Amino acid sequence: MRMRPRTAVTTAITTLCGVFALALPAQAASADPGGGITVFAHRGASAYAPENTLSSVQRAADLHISWVENDVQRTRDGALVVIHDTTLARTTDVKKRYPKRAPWSVSSFTLAEIKQLDAGGWFAPRFRGERIPTLQEYLGLLDRTGQGLLLELKQPELYPGIERQTLDALGRAGWLDRPHLARRLVVQSFSAPALRTTHRLRPAVRTGFLGNPPVTQLKQYAVFSDEINAEQHGVTSAYAKAVHALRGPHRLRLRLNTWTVDSAPAATRLIELGVDGIITNRPDVVENALHSGR
Ligand code: G3P
Ligand code: CA
Repeated sequence: MRMRPRTAVTTAITTLCGVFALALPAQAASADPGGGITVFAHRGASAYAPENTLSSVQRAADLHISWVENDVQRTRDGALVVIHDTTLARTTDVKKRYPKRAPWSVSSFTLAEIKQLDAGGWFAPRFRGERIPTLQEYLGLLDRTGQGLLLELKQPELYPGIERQTLDALGRAGWLDRPHLARRLVVQSFSAPALRTTHRLRPAVRTGFLGNPPVTQLKQYAVFSDEINAEQHGVTSAYAKAVHALRGPHRLRLRLNTWTVDSAPAATRLIELGVDGIITNRPDVVENALHSGR
């Protein structure tokens, strides 16, 4: 179970977890506007498996983490793939396979070429042979694990139309039905225009703005964002209160998540400041902190 009241860092965990477990499917305890703390496995459980791969999702599921975060981009021939960097250099063996194609941009390779790349060996030998997943493959695994998805449109300015394309892909995969929209999907981006577009195209989809807008501008973001997903060092108690004072496009209290938080003391501190969710490479560490109050 992944939820807990933020004010009781050291107490009442067991009882409340039992209550929420009855209220939510075990696999979907989550970024529900009801008021618990949500733990998001950042790029999957990326401290333990290569980021943004199916192994990192599975690892998060094995750790009983209900939500994963990912990054979506587009290949030269128009396929949506899950990868963080806009080049393939850091997380694949592309330099070895295609030495003459620097800077190895995701957008300059076809899906067939990308599927030949090893996206796991750089992380650890036992992950050799891991592939960059398509969004469709990624959603397929989430369908099996039951996890929710915090889907980031990564540098959407590089990929015109990716908002609509991503929504179409989500719709085809069954992710725009009521249960997914209510419990298992948030689209986030550092790009306010991309989020505005997403909200305009599919107002029912929850959205999250990545960044730390000044308090004076939060109201403008609340027009199209249900969440502010802020870098941790910009989070204060006053900032959390300012976020929570607003309502998002779905008329629910604006939520505040923060990234990337990998230590128990940091997670505890941020929860006490008032965040609603923690985005972490080490979701087990954060979970343990939630349950032990450390
Ligand atoms: O979800 C927050 C985080 O993913 C934002 O930064 O660079 O890891 O995509 P980045
Ligand atoms: Ca991301």
